[in-house]
Amino acid sequence: MKENCDHTANPANEGFFDPETWTYTYVVYEGDSSPCVIIDSVLNYDLKSGRTGTKLADEVIAFVKAHKLQVSWILETHAHADHLTAAPYLQSHLGGKLVIGDHIKNVQTVFKGVFNLDDRFKADGAQFDYLLKEGESLAFGRLSLKALFVPGHTPACMAYEIGDAIFVGDTLFMPDVGTARCDFPGGDARTLYHSIQKILSYPGQTKLYMRHDYPPNNRPATGMTTVADEKASNIHVHDGVSEDQFVQMRTARDKTLEMPTLILPSIQVNIRAGHFPEPDANGVAYLKIPLNAL
Ligand SMILES: [Fe+2]
Repeated sequence: MKENCDHTANPANEGFFDPETWTYTYVVYEGDSSPCVIIDSVLNYDLKSGRTGTKLADEVIAFVKAHKLQVSWILETHAHADHLTAAPYLQSHLGGKLVIGDHIKNVQTVFKGVFNLDDRFKADGAQFDYLLKEGESLAFGRLSLKALFVPGHTPACMAYEIGDAIFVGDTLFMPDVGTARCDFPGGDARTLYHSIQKILSYPGQTKLYMRHDYPPNNRPATGMTTVADEKASNIHVHDGVSEDQFVQMRTARDKTLEMPTLILPSIQVNIRAGHFPEPDANGVAYLKIPLNAL
């Protein structure tokens, strides 16, 4: 069993659900007028036109301003493959520093190859303001968050422990949804199993905030469950599922999944911390589509 890392047990948080990408963005704070962090934002993106939008990010900005919060850190749990991050847009309006786990360098190296990026793209994490290591803490006001390295879905995933809660990214989904795929480059089902066990070793009442929800059977989307509920009823990793059983299930299931609709634009933007590629001489930024490479 592990103890929660910080000295204020119950920070407030607000989740913003994006029904287009089934994702939650979280603002975590102590109270009105306090410092806050933003975890995993979304930049709206229309694949057909190549246009981005800020509808969801603007809701986050309005909330932060209404509650007079000061943004300390804008965090990513990982380089998402199904939506673009709005982190630079939020930073330009609210301040704060862009943060991700230090293994992002591995992800950048892999995708620098996939997209054949030239030397202007450095696979050294420098696009972010700060790279977190396993177990490292960041303060925001009287609160702090602790980084938990939870690879498997990607090789660079982090979860963030704040008070009595863990923001798990894509390490776990709701009990009736299960777990995230592990077939992206550098993903690994056995590694994910161990990362999940790390989270499930926390006390049963620990709140787990999901990055995604894909509710089945007309259940309304909900972003939160507990360690106890996951252990009792997660359809992929409830108590009693062995490592080998999980790996077998996950590997077989991943073979049936199509690539996420937005993987090509998402990865190219998110490995740049959400910044667009340098524009061409005409002032327009372009993304690449590698043919028959993924
Ligand atoms: Fe993901």
